Amino acid sequence: MKVEIIVVTGDVRSVQARLGQPLLHVLFEANLSQGWALCAGAGSCGKCRIRFLDHAPQAQCEEHALIQQEDLEHGWRLACKHVVTRDCRIQLRTLPRQRSTSEEGELLAIDVGTTRIKWAVDGKRNRAVEHAMINPQMGVGSEIMSRLSYALSSETAQSHLREVLVSAIKQLVKDSGARSLAVGGNTTMIAMLLGLPLQGLAFAPYTLPWRGDETVGLGNGLPPAYVPPLLGPFIGADISAGLAAVCAKEPEYPYLLADLGTNGEFVLAVDEDHFFAASVPMGPAIEGVGLCCGSMAGDGVVSKVRVGQKGLHVDVQGAMAGISGTGYVSLLAVLRRIGLLDEDGHF
Ligand code: FES
Repeated sequence: MKVEIIVVTGDVRSVQARLGQPLLHVLFEANLSQGWALCAGAGSCGKCRIRFLDHAPQAQCEEHALIQQEDLEHGWRLACKHVVTRDCRIQLRTLPRQRSTSEEGELLAIDVGTTRIKWAVDGKRNRAVEHAMINPQMGVGSEIMSRLSYALSSETAQSHLREVLVSAIKQLVKDSGARSLAVGGNTTMIAMLLGLPLQGLAFAPYTLPWRGDETVGLGNGLPPAYVPPLLGPFIGADISAGLAAVCAKEPEYPYLLADLGTNGEFVLAVDEDHFFAASVPMGPAIEGVGLCCGSMAGDGVVSKVRVGQKGLHVDVQGAMAGISGTGYVSLLAVLRRIGLLDEDGHF
């Protein structure tokens, strides 16, 4: 089947798609994702809008809830709610976002998170400079299970997920000129980056494909990368790197180290010899999915709420455009503190 995609500049890309393939996946594999599939196809975030220029399919009830009637009549739909049934022409709203950094340095440390890739370059001024970008895999879902489900749908899918990570890392290495690399991340991101089998992470009883704590080759001319230990099926190299950093500061025991993202990971350090780790799926809660004005953190998005003499005050850069999950938790904490919300969540 042929899908003609009209990008925002007016250029036309023609791509081949399989009968029954979700349009969300067609766009991702063409590197033309329409933004971040925050709800992973549940039809609740509205981030994957596309416009059918001909043969618009019947709108589904989620689309009636998220898209205005006039736009529905003009062919706007959600890419996650429709599969390829025939040749079609679609138009995109926005181009994929780009990232840039000009920081240079010998050492590059990267944390491949499910929603964001963060990195720090040990710059020439001998201080680590931190940056972040959206994980390009966000085009097929914002949490681990949607990525695993897509990865296991075909060999092409798994290799494309790996390719987008490797090319993002390649760009970071090129921009920074780094010659030494350390890569952390949750177990699924690390397994995808290294092309490891994913079945053990997708199905119970969950098992690790590899235990980390090794220097490995990422291929494609990249320097060898050290990957910190993977402690359990969903307790990854990110929390073990964090634990190493905390231990290096000779902390007081006991303490709890928490890493909250789409997966929550916790380490309870009882003393120097006893550590207990656990994890919990959190889904895209921190990204504000499920809130009518929810959004990922960024410009215009409320991420902190305070109370002062003039009432509630929000921390936001630029015109207000939404509230992140973190901002919402902050708001709830303030409302609880001033007695406007009871412990059951009632006003
Ligand atoms: S509505 Fe399509 S990914 Fe959320």
